[in-house]
Amino acid sequence: MKKVLVTGGAGYIGSHTVVTLMERGYHAIIVDNLDNSNAEVLNRINSIVGTKPDFIEGDVRDADVLDRVFSSYEIDGVIHFAGLKAVGESVEKPMRYYSNNVEGSISLLKAMDRHDCRKLVFSSSSTVYGDPVRVPITEDFPLSATNPYGQSKLMIETILRDLANANSQWQFTLLRYFNPVGAHASGLIGEDPNGIPNNLMPYIAQVAVGRLNKLNVFGDDYPTEDGTGVRDYIHVMDLADAHMQALLHFKPDHGCRAYNIGTGNGYSVLQMLQAFEKASGKDVPYSIEARRSGDIAESYANCELSKQEIDWVARRDLDQIMKDQWNWQSNNPNGYKD
Ligand code: NAD
Ligand code: UFG
Repeated sequence: MKKVLVTGGAGYIGSHTVVTLMERGYHAIIVDNLDNSNAEVLNRINSIVGTKPDFIEGDVRDADVLDRVFSSYEIDGVIHFAGLKAVGESVEKPMRYYSNNVEGSISLLKAMDRHDCRKLVFSSSSTVYGDPVRVPITEDFPLSATNPYGQSKLMIETILRDLANANSQWQFTLLRYFNPVGAHASGLIGEDPNGIPNNLMPYIAQVAVGRLNKLNVFGDDYPTEDGTGVRDYIHVMDLADAHMQALLHFKPDHGCRAYNIGTGNGYSVLQMLQAFEKASGKDVPYSIEARRSGDIAESYANCELSKQEIDWVARRDLDQIMKDQWNWQSNNPNGYKD
């Protein structure tokens, strides 16, 4: 059985990917320091697949932890989710981001090298396109960053590209996620942000269960159809499938390849709100507020390359996203603390 090390596998996207891996017969080994996750997710994964994934509580910056894992299991490949992702916090505490994300990735790559494991799928982000000149975005668009979080993703992408150029044994797939949303259809696992959510979907869902009073819509004067921001929302289980496809498509001349992971469709904040209200039967009050600093008007992907090269397309539509988001939130109004 193929053994895959999943760093950050207790987190939102990691836990859904672990379910997909295990259902496809892979042996998933999670290393996570639980900085932004809850060990309860392991019991939930057990309820879905019938087995608990192997779990090592530890930091990817800790070489001893990684050496122990690589020595205990013959790891065939790594999916690297571990990292911090809050844009605003990254502006306040840049060193926390460079340390966790960049130093963490370097530590992982060094351990992989020591143990002759050189296949890695990396969680990148559409944030590496900065403010794109047009949409849809293709992988060859210029890259830039407007905050330390985005900068950390760009730095890691650069490191991976340089390593692959220097040594053809390294095989890297960079998955540039657009906006991950939704939850596993069982309602047992989903996104459980600490504190007040930064992102749109968990915010809307928490208003619907009464944890928050109303949604603040950040700006209605963008050059979009209804004036609110437009994004490419991708179901987290489609994202999980993309990791599976990435693992299946490593090849000897692989080098370092980047793929957009989105649907190719853009939806506005108000369209998302309406679709959620329809799926949940709940009214979600909102008010129009000022633009959020650093936000862009519109972002959605062209996903032809991932279709051609890793045989992946998003299969779940907006109705499915909203149904699963509501199933998770209504069954777990307080997330994993319930
Ligand atoms: P998440 O916070 O739910 O998961 C990340 C996991 O990594 C958490 O369980 C956390 O405890 C763990 N972690 C953090 N630092 C660690 C460290 N130093 N050592 C070990 N574990 C550590 O976030 P997510 O939404 O699942 O995102 C996963 C990855 O995808 C991140 O790298 C993120 O930057 C990237 N990404 C996320 C989004 C998004 O909107 N969710 C978009 C694009 C890219
Ligand atoms: N929005 C609101 N109110 C909220 C939250 C968001 O109106 O309370 C709006 C935003 O202005 C934006 C849209 O909803 O127009 C989506 O915002 P999110 O915060 O959910 O997502 P972003 O596209 O701003 O950013 C997210 C992650 C980034 C990541 C990027 C691409 O936060 O880290 O997706 O993957 F880089």
